[in-house]
Amino acid sequence: MEKQELKHFENNELRTFGRRHGKKLSARKVWLMENLLPNITPKTDKYDEKSIILEIGFGNGEHLRDLALNDQKSIIIGAEPFVNGVAALLSAITKESDNTVFDEYKNIRIHPDDVRLLLKNLQHIKFSQIWILHPDPWPKAKHEKRRLLNSDFLNLISQFLSDDGKIIIGTDHWGYYDWIIEQLKNTKLKIKSTSLDIIKTRYQLKNKANTDTPKYLILSN
Ligand SMILES: C[S@@+](CC[C@H](N)C(=O)[O-])C[C@H]1O[C@@H](n2cnc3c(N)ncnc32)[C@H](O)[C@@H]1O
Repeated sequence: MEKQELKHFENNELRTFGRRHGKKLSARKVWLMENLLPNITPKTDKYDEKSIILEIGFGNGEHLRDLALNDQKSIIIGAEPFVNGVAALLSAITKESDNTVFDEYKNIRIHPDDVRLLLKNLQHIKFSQIWILHPDPWPKAKHEKRRLLNSDFLNLISQFLSDDGKIIIGTDHWGYYDWIIEQLKNTKLKIKSTSLDIIKTRYQLKNKANTDTPKYLILSN
């Protein structure tokens, strides 16, 4: 797929996410959204030789923070259109005393919107890892077209992988998992592995009583 097919998303934006706003933000979170966020959006960086990791739909950012802590030499970019999730991450990476970012989280960059908009602006970047944990499953048949991980999107993100880069997907919705495997038939991506240490995200912890064991896919070009 050519990069110009990015236009496809520009013209036919089909929402892949649910609500953008939850409960009212605290005064501190509003301050962080207005004053800190503009300084740590991905467009402000050059990145040079650094390895860059992308997490799509980071929710409240628990896993993204783990990535940042465990890989201090990499830049960790997160994309998330849910405002309360972005605000929760901003709150967790900053000191309450003066709202500055903790040293160990200074490698985090946040795109507070649809990842497809981000990719339009980052066309020359290659990611060593692209994570998507618990993408919205859109379980009703009439909503299936809203699933993010269709073959077009998988083809798109495969172009942003570095030579040995990997896409790591986790979902507890086994129907969506099987559907993704079907979508892969229209891509050149290969399944490298399906096993991964258990990852605890907020979604996963909240739903553990009601959902199936998460399944994983590790893909490469
Ligand atoms: C079920 S939640 C899971 C959140 C988190 N990964 C977790 O496991 O706790 C799915 C998330 O994907 C986000 N999302 C959906 N479509 C997206 C898109 N096009 N770009 C970025 N994020 C998206 C949603 O806003 C939502 O927060």
